[in-house]
Amino acid sequence: MKKHLLISTRNKDKRREISKALGENVELHHPEEFFDEDVEETGVTLYENALLKARAGFEESGLPSLADDTGLEVDALDGRPGVYSSRYAGEDATYEDNVNKLLEELNGVNDGNRTARFRTVMVYIDKEQTVRFDGVLEGRILTVKRGENGFGYDPVFLPENSDLTLAEIDVVDKNKISHRGLALQKFAHWYSSQG
Ligand code: IMP
Repeated sequence: MKKHLLISTRNKDKRREISKALGENVELHHPEEFFDEDVEETGVTLYENALLKARAGFEESGLPSLADDTGLEVDALDGRPGVYSSRYAGEDATYEDNVNKLLEELNGVNDGNRTARFRTVMVYIDKEQTVRFDGVLEGRILTVKRGENGFGYDPVFLPENSDLTLAEIDVVDKNKISHRGLALQKFAHWYSSQG
């Protein structure tokens, strides 16, 4: 019998990646089955925000819940946008607004100084435990967008040791190397050992 797990995010792009990684073995649920309001990301770290989302999911649904918070850390910007990646160009910013702002901020910065990383923190909560899983992907920010897949900053992110941006590979290949994919691999390994 499949185990039931709430994926505590309303972001359809994250869900697609998470369900590709876990969906075969686990019955996945989503917040709108149980509650309407958005969880406010008031934390100042990825862990705090992931914890807020996982806790809200668990409290509202009664199901074991998994949440993801992800940030892009750009070295030339002292680690920004980081935990504020979704609101980089303002409260209602689109993915495109955020990417354009990032390219503007990095205008004139040479190739060697465009290093960056995606960092994902996942938190799992059930009635007995709270467990954290991390994933990091190193790379650099290009000067122009490339590719139509993925989401967010994927079109300008070139992973280390890759000729293709995250938007030029498909979801299965992205999950093999990405921040979220690595956190999910750790989670899946741990989860399969739980009763
Ligand atoms: P949050 O984790 O919901 O706070 O989202 C952070 C923001 O980072 C998203 O709105 C996207 O713009 C971006 N983001 C998160 N994950 C990825 C990814 O895998 N690729 C590219 N951008 C991402």
